[in-house]
Amino acid sequence: MKMRGKGTVLATAAGIVALGLLAGRCAPSAPKGAKKGAAVSDTAAAAMKVYVAPGDLDEYYLFASGGHSGQVYVYGLPSGRHISTIPVFTPYPATGYGFDDESRKMLGNLTWGDAHHPALSETAGDYDGRWLFINDMNARVARIDLRDFKTKQILGPIPNVSGNHASSFVTPNTEYAVVGSRFSIPIPKGTVAGIDKYATEYKGVVTGVKIDPKTGEMSIGWQILMPPFDYDLGDAGKLASDGFVFFTSYNTERATGKLEVTSAQKDRDYIAAVDWKMAEQLAAKGEGQMIGGIKVIDPAKNPGLVYFMPCGKSPHGVDVSPDGKYVVGSGKLQGVTTAFNWEKVQTAMRNKDFTGDEDGIPVLKYESIKDAEVPVGLGPLHTQFGPDGFAYTSLFVDSAIAKWKLGTWEVVDKVPMSYSIGHLTAAHGDTVKPHGKWLVGLNKLSHGRHLNVGPSQPESSQLVDITEEKMKLTLDFFTEPEPHYAQIVKADILKPIEVYAKEENKHPHAIWDVKDAGVTRSGSKVLVKMIAVRSTFTPTDFEVKAGDEVTIALTNIEQTTDELHGLAILDYNLNIVVDPGETKTITFKAKQGVYPYYCTNFCSALHQEMQGYMIVR
Ligand code: CUA
Repeated sequence: MKMRGKGTVLATAAGIVALGLLAGRCAPSAPKGAKKGAAVSDTAAAAMKVYVAPGDLDEYYLFASGGHSGQVYVYGLPSGRHISTIPVFTPYPATGYGFDDESRKMLGNLTWGDAHHPALSETAGDYDGRWLFINDMNARVARIDLRDFKTKQILGPIPNVSGNHASSFVTPNTEYAVVGSRFSIPIPKGTVAGIDKYATEYKGVVTGVKIDPKTGEMSIGWQILMPPFDYDLGDAGKLASDGFVFFTSYNTERATGKLEVTSAQKDRDYIAAVDWKMAEQLAAKGEGQMIGGIKVIDPAKNPGLVYFMPCGKSPHGVDVSPDGKYVVGSGKLQGVTTAFNWEKVQTAMRNKDFTGDEDGIPVLKYESIKDAEVPVGLGPLHTQFGPDGFAYTSLFVDSAIAKWKLGTWEVVDKVPMSYSIGHLTAAHGDTVKPHGKWLVGLNKLSHGRHLNVGPSQPESSQLVDITEEKMKLTLDFFTEPEPHYAQIVKADILKPIEVYAKEENKHPHAIWDVKDAGVTRSGSKVLVKMIAVRSTFTPTDFEVKAGDEVTIALTNIEQTTDELHGLAILDYNLNIVVDPGETKTITFKAKQGVYPYYCTNFCSALHQEMQGYMIVR
């Protein structure tokens, strides 16, 4: 409200719209591959770099958000091969996810999610290979166990949160994954106030999702009441700035209507700096007001909990340098990105170097906390880091990646992206120990850089070699909608299992001997314990009565890698896949008739014979 930017080159909104149109219509030219003689050796060199011979394994995993597919896609790098899809917020028949009782319960009434920002668990600020967290706009956070690449928990919807976009960034020892509301609403949910009351009666919240260090189990740690801004992205402080978490926000005008225009009135929006260690202490003391069934802490009553750092208008990402000394944020309508100096930020906090407040939250003075405005190019969105003090910023309007140096603030190189890059991700590029090597531009458009598949086109992702001074585009690969953020982790950090060991299967209905298979009845509830092993179901047939509530508990007693069995029951919309050593249950109401069931996963030469009959009288 009291902010007016000084000394920054800010493009006008009209100018940006024009530039955006220009970028859309006339995207920068890209390398043309091997078509021209002079380019052949470069192309061959790039091909050698990314070639992973048959039987060889990639060096890195890329975990990409599947956006509104609600899934996570797993790729190998540098090959760009799609290896696996991890269903998270959406049923996925290929793995039977969302059909068995356990995953159906986890999904609840929502069979769709908009997943944006995967976050690998960290120990001492670097990826530890244990879990992958990912947010859903429906106020949820999921945890994937990287031991078996399966979704194990979906927390939420979290009270008072509408549009969980600024998520699921983790703190350096995975104490918390964070949640920031994109949409402000009157809280608790269900409260109604007219849009004319937006500025005063609508609220945002930021939340810390507490993570059990042993099990990864998530619970709500703390929630903080925030002014009605749109909280967009986040990052946790590390090393020098450990203890704080940062969220960008836009529409600090508290405007309504056509935000494209109404929320672009001020020169600056804010990055919120939240002292999460203080939030943790306040929550432990029971501080806060009960709203929506949880305690919500008011920062106006708890000085020191939240500060606002003015940032270029409409910022997207906020990214903390590997040493934690710089917080990098850019207005996406600007031509510069701002590096805030954490030491200066702390000094300004201590000296109360404020220019005003927002609902009791102090606003720090921009000129006192910034170190540099780096002229990276137009439309800076997100920044990743290399091991050598270099930073890489994605430029949406320029459709390029800029490489620049922390400390000297010199822009040293640019590489065009085809087309219009959003997020970018580097190997361990948001940790305390970036690897360099590979950087992937997660582009919003592909504009036909692939075989024509009609109007619904994939997104393009581009692999950039960052080992040398000049960045080199080496590979195009295509990703389904829509890779918002992604994480690249060294493959040998993960230790996935290949089968579920028999001794570890604690399912109450697991059986390992065909003698134990069969039907038991208790009133109208029927339990069918079933075994799958190459290539027979036991029992091969069973009878129940119409109206029975039937639960089939299927155990795959194989202990051999890749020996999966599926169970599909026709006409019941039921289809599960059971991994070696695993037990899954499905529950349904029986209807009169004869129903075949069969194995869906090709398991042996006699896979087709793996079938049976359910007879319902
Ligand atoms: Cu079991 Cu096919």
